[in-house]
Amino acid sequence: MALAMFFNKSRLDYEEERKGLPIYTYKEDLIEALQQYQCLVIVGDTGSGKTTQLPQYVLASMSSIRSIAVTQPRRIAAISAARRVSDEMGTRMGEEVGYSIRFERKASNKTKLLYMTDGTLLRSCVSDPKIEDYDMVILDEAHERSLETDILFGLLRRACRLRPELKLVVMSATLDIDKFSEFFGDCPVFSIPGRMYAVDILWQKKMKFATLKATYVQRAVETVMHVHQNEEPGDILVFLTGQQEIDQAMRKLNEMHEELDYHEVRFKNHVRDIVIYPIYSALETLEQRAIFEPAREGVRKIVFSTNIAQTSVTVPGIRYVVDSGFVKQKMYDAQTGMDALVVVPISQAAAIQRAGRAGRTATGKVYRLYSREAFEDMEPATIPEIQRSSLIGTVLNLKTMGIDDILNFEFIDPPDPALVVAAIRQLFLLGAVNESGHLTHLGTQMSHFPISPFLSRAIISSCLDFPCSSELLTIAAMLSVEEIFTSPRSEKKKQAAEEARRQFDSEYGDHFVLLNVYETWEREGGGDKEWCFENFVHFRAVKTARSVRQQLVVLVEKLGLPIASCRGGDPGRERKRRKVGRDERRTTDGGGELDPIPILRSLCTAFYVNTAKRHTHRPFYFHYITSAGLTSSTTTHSSSEGGNEQTGQVNWGPGMVALHVDPKSALGQMSKPPEWVIYNDVQYVNRANMRCVSKITFGMVEVLMGRVKLVDERRLCGGFEDGGRRGSVAH
Ligand code: CDP
Ligand code: MG
Repeated sequence: MALAMFFNKSRLDYEEERKGLPIYTYKEDLIEALQQYQCLVIVGDTGSGKTTQLPQYVLASMSSIRSIAVTQPRRIAAISAARRVSDEMGTRMGEEVGYSIRFERKASNKTKLLYMTDGTLLRSCVSDPKIEDYDMVILDEAHERSLETDILFGLLRRACRLRPELKLVVMSATLDIDKFSEFFGDCPVFSIPGRMYAVDILWQKKMKFATLKATYVQRAVETVMHVHQNEEPGDILVFLTGQQEIDQAMRKLNEMHEELDYHEVRFKNHVRDIVIYPIYSALETLEQRAIFEPAREGVRKIVFSTNIAQTSVTVPGIRYVVDSGFVKQKMYDAQTGMDALVVVPISQAAAIQRAGRAGRTATGKVYRLYSREAFEDMEPATIPEIQRSSLIGTVLNLKTMGIDDILNFEFIDPPDPALVVAAIRQLFLLGAVNESGHLTHLGTQMSHFPISPFLSRAIISSCLDFPCSSELLTIAAMLSVEEIFTSPRSEKKKQAAEEARRQFDSEYGDHFVLLNVYETWEREGGGDKEWCFENFVHFRAVKTARSVRQQLVVLVEKLGLPIASCRGGDPGRERKRRKVGRDERRTTDGGGELDPIPILRSLCTAFYVNTAKRHTHRPFYFHYITSAGLTSSTTTHSSSEGGNEQTGQVNWGPGMVALHVDPKSALGQMSKPPEWVIYNDVQYVNRANMRCVSKITFGMVEVLMGRVKLVDERRLCGGFEDGGRRGSVAH
């Protein structure tokens, strides 16, 4: 009872809170400015009320605005904002206020305010380039400069020209907004003064970069314990880089805290107990609403977060920030031509934002786990994503909108032409564009799927070339959700989890593990939660996968493509068995035997660009296309941003990077690793790990490799004024 009351704030409570926000004082001025101008840039500190309040002011005061889209670079932020605002307005989620993220939409015909990811709005622009669904678009978190937001800048500038009645608001938490204003015809800037308390900065002593990077998780946990034992009451926010790291840190902190003998330790204050929460992109972290509530008296709340808590979500009550100084970022990997996830130092701007989280409600302290010198070495601002990530999906989207001359698109900061060329080249390798760079029928089909062009290509292949779309859709859906397996904290459970995991292993590789988990859950577990619990599988993940799968099925059917299974049942199939490597065996399953070949072949049709060959004597792999010298010299450029001094480990140059099988991979357990594999992507932690790896034979990709030699970049980018010329300046 008491708990329920605790969580259910009344409208009055919300009213009070809303009036206390910095933005509240400027309500009328803001409305006036919005009425007067078509475009407006709003800048204000994180937590000042931009995301949750401004749209409510507009709905209450501007009768001409009947539907508002607010974009967020992160799904979790879109949901959390929608939830907060519908609570504040006292409406049910999905009625007046809703959200729309990839594969998940809570909205109705009553919805006036829709929070969405920037990717969602971008995709809807394909069929609605004038954005006629909305009277106002708010591009929020513009300082993040996500790839999708950057493209939306260009598309919205065009839409504003076409529709004078459309209102556009760009909101940012940092001050470098002149560029935004300039881009939208020198539109006015409205700035909301923040109310920040002083934040003390504590630096770590100088250490080598490699040590800095190898030890920050441990040091973060130790620092939290130090703060907990020595500092006044107040919650702690710790910035780390990813889910695994956060889980690990939470485990360590729990252990250390349990070992504390409270009779021995002298606390400087009466706060002894702790409560620990994670925040990372996996949506279940949001289900713990308590993150956003103050901890009980005498308990200290400790939140471990990725950089989501830097500006996207605000955790109240934070007085201490522990900043690791690192972030996990997407980086274009010139060698493989795809994005890789890399842990890199944050920028100075990010460090300042992180510190600011400690001074929202009182004076605070930030413990920087790096030295003043290391701070001086950081980039002043984070490089926009468009300049450091693969543009393959973006270019496909733009081409579908009829924007063919990508190099001359209205970018707020243009990407390196080499990245555009590389994307067009990849699209050619997938068959989405022809040799002159024009969209093919296949490319048009691919663009209907809100997933990576590689996966959509594989799906289409599984429909048309190697019938197994039923299975491939499952694999694609499972690849579209976060962590499948839970990582329990206690040692005993960890072992049980490991054993549970092994029952899904497949000698063919991780794509088959995904398939096994999903199919077993549906078949044996009846799709319920209990089964997930027993098998250490995230229920939310498989449940989401089911919904994603259903949506993909609808898309496939809409395109008139057939859905077929490669599971036996037809005895004739037996004879058609072919070999994968030497040790051919089959997984048996309720519905009949699974033939892995069509699945591998469909995957190869798209992911052949991610073929890796094992080193003859050593336990790692090389990216085949590059190591075999199949790429033309103009494309093996090194990405200008990926300096190896920064990452410490990775050689971004044209030299060969050793690719390792992810230790968690099913293939990682094999005594004799396969000679040829394909992988879904690469993550650079301390080394380059291929994730989601499956075993193939060279025969499966040999013919496809022929296409690599057909690449003629001049022609691919030709047909535009200077496309050919700029396209070849890749070096
Ligand atoms: O967008 P901006 O960072 O300027 O602020 P906001 O997200 O609108 O947040 C305004 C206030 O609402 C903050 O004090 C948050 O603590 C609170 N809020 C919340 O409690 N729960 C949410 N899901 C979102 C915001
Ligand atoms: Mg915001």
